[in-house]
Amino acid sequence: MEARDAWKLTDRLQAPSGKGDPFAAAVRATRMPMVVTDPGQPDNPIVFVNDAFLQLTGYERHQVIGRNCRFLQGPDTDQAAVSAIRAAVESKTDIAIDILNYRRDGTPFWNALYLSPVTDDDGELLFFFASQLDVTQRKRAELDVIEERDRVEAAVAERTQELEVALQARTDLLHEVDHRVKNNLQLISALVLIERRKATDAATKATLTTLRERVEALSAVHRLLYRNDNVVRFDVAGFIREFAAEAAQARGKPPVGLKLDLDSISVAAAFAAPVALMASELVRIAITHALASGTERYISLSIKPTSDALYRFCIADDGTAEGIITSIEPDQKSFIELLATQLHAKVHWNGYVGPSHSICVDLPIDEPPRGG
Ligand SMILES: Cc1cc2nc3c(=O)[nH]c(=O)nc-3n(C[C@H](O)[C@H](O)[C@H](O)COP(=O)(O)O)c2cc1C
Repeated sequence: MEARDAWKLTDRLQAPSGKGDPFAAAVRATRMPMVVTDPGQPDNPIVFVNDAFLQLTGYERHQVIGRNCRFLQGPDTDQAAVSAIRAAVESKTDIAIDILNYRRDGTPFWNALYLSPVTDDDGELLFFFASQLDVTQRKRAELDVIEERDRVEAAVAERTQELEVALQARTDLLHEVDHRVKNNLQLISALVLIERRKATDAATKATLTTLRERVEALSAVHRLLYRNDNVVRFDVAGFIREFAAEAAQARGKPPVGLKLDLDSISVAAAFAAPVALMASELVRIAITHALASGTERYISLSIKPTSDALYRFCIADDGTAEGIITSIEPDQKSFIELLATQLHAKVHWNGYVGPSHSICVDLPIDEPPRGG
């Protein structure tokens, strides 16, 4: 008990006079609020407080001595913080924690509490010591920042949601438009088919067949755009894959083999139609060539980026028969040239890869400048 009462010595010290234990005098005089509690007594009551503590809390000394410090807590004190302190006291370890406390007049303040056990030389617990610092201003600033951040995050989330709804509405609308355009093109295709059946001379029939195939290619563009989530970009490789498979099946007897090496290239949907017309025209040339030669085992279709701005689409034969270039009709050539001008593309009519003959087109990935 002697050791436990040792703190009482400090209570008798007079700081201003400078007498006695200088350390105890400093504790008494410091502007930092401090308390000492006695865990040897029931409910660990306060046995010492300095003037700074009384000033901070607004209590008189006789109102706090003998009480557990929890009287500083109130309705909005975080119970998780209280539990953390309880655990530290029970395990006799120190803790630093911010906790909302209340003055005698009921006004709240943020208390940066630091508490620590005080042991004797044998490690026996004597007291708990604590310092309390009013950090209301800092805490308020922190809370303001958090509040502001939450407010901004909520505003951003709300705006994002609005934009997502607007984007979805736009996507739905474009899908609807693509769907209708596709249906109309199919209708036109059917009308052309009727006319072709009625036609008696071979030249008219051939013209109407070509016309129908071109309308079908345009219809395929809108079918793809309608199916895709991305309504502003058009997947050229996807189109070629689908179109070539259909074209090879529709005309191939025996079916023409397709060797596909298609990198994913997506171009602005706004100029998907001329790109698709160009690609479908070349695919039809390749398939017609393979069928006409009778000996071609396969045709190759490839699409590769050649720079950030350009990609190259090539059709090639398998090198066993006459060059693919021999299968092009003059009007097909001028149609492709016309599309190339519109697309700012460059056609290489007669290339070779090993024994194979190829036709390649360099196309821009993004929309060519208008009026150019
Ligand atoms: C030395 C010491 C000082 C303390 N100072 C404060 C304080 O300033 N504010 C406070 O809310 N709790 C303070 N506490 C914590 C409470 O006294 C008590 O330990 C806490 O509320 C957990 O216990 P309980 O759940 O029994 O209330 C202090 C505890 C000790 C040991």
